[in-house]
Amino acid sequence: MGKLWSGTPLFLAPLAGYTDRPFRQVVKEFGCDITFSEMVNVNAIVYQNPKTLKMLEKSPKETPYFVQIASNNLENTRKAVEFLNQLEWVDGIDINFGCPVKKAIRSGFGGVLLKEENLPFFKELIKEVVNRSQKPVSIKMRLGFGVGEFVAVERAKIAEDLGVKFITLHGRYVKQMYRGEADYCKIGEVVRSVSIPVIANGDITDYRKYREAMEITGAEGVAIGRGAVGKPWIFLELRQKGEVGPEQKREVILSHFRAMVEFYGERGVILFRKHLHSYSKGSPNGSRFRSLVNQATSIEEVENLIRRELQL
Ligand SMILES: Cc1cc2nc3c(=O)[nH]c(=O)nc-3n(C[C@H](O)[C@H](O)[C@H](O)COP(=O)(O)O)c2cc1C
Repeated sequence: MGKLWSGTPLFLAPLAGYTDRPFRQVVKEFGCDITFSEMVNVNAIVYQNPKTLKMLEKSPKETPYFVQIASNNLENTRKAVEFLNQLEWVDGIDINFGCPVKKAIRSGFGGVLLKEENLPFFKELIKEVVNRSQKPVSIKMRLGFGVGEFVAVERAKIAEDLGVKFITLHGRYVKQMYRGEADYCKIGEVVRSVSIPVIANGDITDYRKYREAMEITGAEGVAIGRGAVGKPWIFLELRQKGEVGPEQKREVILSHFRAMVEFYGERGVILFRKHLHSYSKGSPNGSRFRSLVNQATSIEEVENLIRRELQL
């Protein structure tokens, strides 16, 4: 594959539980340039866990599409990468060095790999993926592990030397979880210390924040996570390519819902509730709508609620 993007790219940041295939299909309609799977553990890929394999699927217009892996062991990393090499629709592999949840910290994958004592494994893991992968490799990380332990410059240089193609950088420390604000100045320090593209991530929810992040960081582009939940048309807004009116929003929500049912079957009805909660945020009858949503169990009921009750 040639160049992954042109101009200033807009990424959809991976959000486990949200940025599944149906959601990614929707954001692609609005000009998102690169999408990532939800984080998948290499062990689950190796065990050929059916749920995990389904998470690797890509929607028709999704190129370029990266699968994000998390790993705490090199042997399964090798096997997982060899498996991903065979999936011709996967355009690249991203390695997670940011996940802050307890289970990840305990098991030794994600953000805990930014701790000083885990530097050797950080390097080995990148080496293993870069050497085995027939596709471009990127990493996604945070500023460091403990608050104030800023290691992202050093880690970015190591990643660059090992052959990583770009870095998505969330401007918080792992221990911060999602508290405080993303530090765009620190992201800027990383941008200036490597030659590979750095993508700024954290708290970008509208055009103003997007401009602020781009100006302060000098990054190649931005990655949007939570800002796209309940607002998949944000990519259009950032490109300043027009506004999405209430009726168009309704059609988008309906098509997102249909894609969920197609992908998950009946289970999609319940899984879509959290998206409907997000879509109705700030709506005048939002809390009534959300309680109706929580009682709806059939496809027709949900469609009717979106058509008749959702005020946009
Ligand atoms: C519910 C949720 C799930 C997430 N899942 C992932 C994940 O699977 N992989 C990953 O690299 N980051 C994950 N993140 C972090 C986001 O990709 C992103 O770095 C972070 O939310 C900051 O960006 P934002 O302010 O645009 O959301 C997750 C964040 C949230 C809130």
